[in-house]
Amino acid sequence: MSIFKRNLKKISADSEKFLKNFLKRQPINSKLITPMKYGLFSGGKNFRTSIVVNTGKIFKVNYKKLIIIGAAVECIHSYSLIHDDLPCMDDDEIRRGKMTTHKKFGESTAVLAGNSLLTLAFEILSSHQLKVKNNLKINLIKSLAISSGHLGMAGGQFLDLFFEHKKISKNSIINMQCMKTGMLFGFCCEAAAIVANLSNSDRNKFYEIGKEIGIIYQIADDFIDLTGNKKIVGKPTQKDNKMGKSTLLNFSGKDYANSYAQNLKKKIINKLKKYGKNSNDLIQSIEFILNRKK
Ligand code: IPE
Ligand code: IPE
Ligand code: MG
Ligand code: MG
Ligand code: MG
Repeated sequence: MSIFKRNLKKISADSEKFLKNFLKRQPINSKLITPMKYGLFSGGKNFRTSIVVNTGKIFKVNYKKLIIIGAAVECIHSYSLIHDDLPCMDDDEIRRGKMTTHKKFGESTAVLAGNSLLTLAFEILSSHQLKVKNNLKINLIKSLAISSGHLGMAGGQFLDLFFEHKKISKNSIINMQCMKTGMLFGFCCEAAAIVANLSNSDRNKFYEIGKEIGIIYQIADDFIDLTGNKKIVGKPTQKDNKMGKSTLLNFSGKDYANSYAQNLKKKIINKLKKYGKNSNDLIQSIEFILNRKK
């Protein structure tokens, strides 16, 4: 196993451990906790936590703080997938090699479990367990809210569905992918910069880098949909075409989408070079994105 994969495995285990303990410490258990855990602990890569951790390494931010922030992001991400799979969205029955949450528990439960994971993220960020000064915490909460809402992920998901079976310009497709996937990654990178108390201009630079990482991540996901092995991927493949999804891949073809992603990757790595070996792990994460099989 490569060093990067070993690191990802450790980060992923630490993120899940934090979440399990956090849920255990809740005063009362609701009936929604089972579907929430089902959506959250179902074998996802926890890749977004690794982006928070590896960006934090550049500024030597405390590991535990980064894991807690990453765990909050994973709650939002898992909520987005539970909703993404609903019949009113992509209508999928398999996720991470298992039945989707609505197939297992019913649609209304899946909607509510998703909503509860969304709010859990903010409960985590505002909890005393995250030992960050209150003014920085407010910045974290604000940025995560913007990145997930109508100007970010939810807005991008709206456009993804609205663009089905329509002729959409390349720039609008990239903007939609940036909103639905890029902005949560934007938060992942900015979060480390916020905790390190960097200037607004440096925070924005890292948000930009995160957005670009997210665009590459979504292009890779679209490639996996086209060429991936359903058993390895753990979710249905070859669906984007059938659903008439507006992806860069469908719009411009494999060669263009691939060179677009490779160029973006080079651009990000160039921006990170000035941080020397402190940015090695983040660069490795970016290298992983376009080589992954799931
Ligand atoms: C899938 O994300 C959806 C996208 C935004 C591309 P991941 O590939 O990170 O999904 P998991 O969490 O590992 O299952
Ligand atoms: C989902 O994109 C992006 C989200 C923000 C949830 P996809 O619809 O392509 O994700 P998969 O392929 O179902 O994981
Ligand atoms: Mg979708
Ligand atoms: Mg989908
Ligand atoms: Mg996809």
